[in-house]
Amino acid sequence: MDLCRAARMTGSAVIDETRDRREPAAPPSAGDSRAYRDVLGRFATGVTVVTCAAPGGPIGMTVNSFTSLSLDPPLVMWSPAKSSHRHAHYSAAPRFAVHVLHAGQQAVADGFMRSAEAFHDVAWTAAPDGLPLMENCLARFVCQRVAEHDAGDHTIMIGRVTAAEGGEGEPLLYFRGRYTAVA
Ligand SMILES: Cc1cc2nc3c(=O)[nH]c(=O)nc-3n(C[C@H](O)[C@H](O)[C@H](O)COP(=O)(O)O)c2cc1C
Repeated sequence: MDLCRAARMTGSAVIDETRDRREPAAPPSAGDSRAYRDVLGRFATGVTVVTCAAPGGPIGMTVNSFTSLSLDPPLVMWSPAKSSHRHAHYSAAPRFAVHVLHAGQQAVADGFMRSAEAFHDVAWTAAPDGLPLMENCLARFVCQRVAEHDAGDHTIMIGRVTAAEGGEGEPLLYFRGRYTAVA
């Protein structure tokens, strides 16, 4: 652990280990949940909104579990929590669209964190199958859902990218539980 300091969790506190410690801390248990999430939060991510067509209309969810999986074929993944009320809709939808948010879209992220139907302040169009496509994002990936894997309290959704578009601007970032921007 020369370059990266381990964090040990006791109760709700996260304690930095000294640099000379060789063994990582014990694996986190359910009781350490808050502290464990705090450690995970040190991994800075971008912020996306993943949309799909649901029986009641378009839905979206603010998501930072998005990542690229494969270039050939072009595969991406993200993971909805099984506890989410929106989970079943993404599981049933043959397609989803991932919208990478730019630095000026924090309100969009807030909206889709709170509600699946936060399309009121967003410019969007519906594809012929009803898939909601938001405009003015930093990037957009339209995906065919090709696999779903059980992963603890989440499900890994894998999509094959059928269209990818990039825009200009700085990304919205998420770090230690807060939105931030490139310095
Ligand atoms: C920055 C950020 C990233 C998030 N990433 C995910 C994610 O990857 N997977 C997930 O299930 N929920 C994620 N959420 C939570 C959802 O946006 C949303 O709040 C949650 O689905 C609400 O529960 P509901 O679907 O039951 O209404 C994230 C929230 C924020 C603010």
